[in-house]
Amino acid sequence: MGHYFDASPTATSRPASVRLTLDDLTVDLATDRGVFSPDHVDTGTRVLLAAAPTPTATQRVLVDVGCGYGAIAVTLARRAPHAQVWAVDVNARARDLCESNAAAAGCTNVRVVAPDDLPDDLVVDGIWSNPPIRVGKAVLHELFTSWLGRLAPNASSWWVVHKHLGSDSLAAWIGANGWDVTRLTSQRGYRILEVSGR
Ligand SMILES: C[S@@+](CC[C@H](N)C(=O)[O-])C[C@H]1O[C@@H](n2cnc3c(N)ncnc32)[C@H](O)[C@@H]1O
Repeated sequence: MGHYFDASPTATSRPASVRLTLDDLTVDLATDRGVFSPDHVDTGTRVLLAAAPTPTATQRVLVDVGCGYGAIAVTLARRAPHAQVWAVDVNARARDLCESNAAAAGCTNVRVVAPDDLPDDLVVDGIWSNPPIRVGKAVLHELFTSWLGRLAPNASSWWVVHKHLGSDSLAAWIGANGWDVTRLTSQRGYRILEVSGR
């Protein structure tokens, strides 16, 4: 049984398509087996995209950590054509989908990469993410430490995590490790954690 966070999913490919509808845009996204939420855009992802702030003109380097097939990355790219969007995922099938979804949506400002292919000195102005909670606490904490460490001074990040998947203990851990964390909203159990750099 594979996971959505496998580097090279072995699930037989079964291409499909889902529609993401938000107040300001509608986009069709190609999906497949072996990636996260292939049958519909995840509710947490939709809550994040509806409730977290839209990128501002001064935010020029944006990241979708764990991009999957690109619902967040494509939305950021459409909302902020002036910005460079980094879409990062360990799953090669997800990266391929994200790349073609960005192209199909007319976005030329998305760079899709594996975590190991990021520039070491990348400093980011904002992160919007539905993070891979199921990878386990140790890997998750490492992921947060490395990404929060890339935030520019005064930059912020928005993470959607369901309360049943440990959002409150994650928020406590983030706070205990020196970052400012607040709960921006909670909808249907999905908390959006706003975390700023230090
Ligand atoms: C909960 S899914 C969200 C996918 C997509 N953003 C969405 O909203 O549909 C989390 C994603 O994180 C990816 N992932 C797992 N470990 C990762 C890591 N260390 N760095 C980046 N992405 C990772 C998984 O492969 C998965 O696609």
